[in-house]
Amino acid sequence: MLFTPCETGGCWSCAVEVNNEVKPACTTSVGDGLVIKTRLADSYIPRRIVSGFSGHPVGGVGTPWWLKRERGYIETACFAAGCNFRCPQCQNWDITYMGKGRALAPAEAAELMTAARREYRVDRMAISGGESTLNRRWLVKYVKELNRLNPDPEARIHVDTNGSILTEDYIDELVEAGMTDVGPDLKGFNLDTFVRITRVEDQRLAERYRDTAWNAVKYLVDKYKERVFTGVGIPYNKKLVSLQEIGLMGEKLSEIDPELQVCVLDYRPEFKRMDLVKPSYAQMLEVYNILREKGLRTVTCQTEYGHIGPEL
Ligand code: FES
Repeated sequence: MLFTPCETGGCWSCAVEVNNEVKPACTTSVGDGLVIKTRLADSYIPRRIVSGFSGHPVGGVGTPWWLKRERGYIETACFAAGCNFRCPQCQNWDITYMGKGRALAPAEAAELMTAARREYRVDRMAISGGESTLNRRWLVKYVKELNRLNPDPEARIHVDTNGSILTEDYIDELVEAGMTDVGPDLKGFNLDTFVRITRVEDQRLAERYRDTAWNAVKYLVDKYKERVFTGVGIPYNKKLVSLQEIGLMGEKLSEIDPELQVCVLDYRPEFKRMDLVKPSYAQMLEVYNILREKGLRTVTCQTEYGHIGPEL
């Protein structure tokens, strides 16, 4: 059975051989006379569509907050196409859902990222998306290769993810490969909120994705607190999540670790949700205060005027 998490031709998890050429099954039309092999040769090197490879002045949720205060570029980032979520307010929808671009082998992507690191003179190298974790073989090889090309102790390899398929053994494999920083983006605590934000309509699947992401945060803290920097993202827009639920998420995250970095993203009008209104500074300040009251000590909130916290 093929694993087809994105179904938009981006992640290449579903790669098959069609007339001796490897293609994503989900976007390749079936025709008469095609010879299709669903089992690829052992020598097949995984591929996926990744683009970007340039300097980033802001960073992601897994970027340590103190770096966000610096001017200029703080990391280089690339963006993997394909996602298992269908967030109607996706801020990167053109890269995520269009499946456009060249599918790269892990070594090619690692070389481009290493060159970008040199060009922008930074130490952090982030992969975001789309959902970076969908093609596991690809990501693990990419992180390993990046680690090999950047052996200096200053190099940081940062994975941004929705955490939905980030199981404990997958985390172990990524850490072993060389991942140093990770930013799991939690899309809600209540299932109805999670579904509203991600539009994963299959309730059982949505529940599994949500639980895997929350468990990933706990596992990262319990097992890798000293070795891997974890920064968690949570969403806020009053049309998508209530302040009561923000409090609940704060409580649960504080139980996992009150020191955990938590970054609240102000969800704004994007893509298919142009009806959303960008949260005001006052609303984000309220969110910040709620999370601090729940015991979290390292909270940042994205606002129209830059970040609030954490030393406010
Ligand atoms: S499931 Fe086919 S490319 Fe992602």
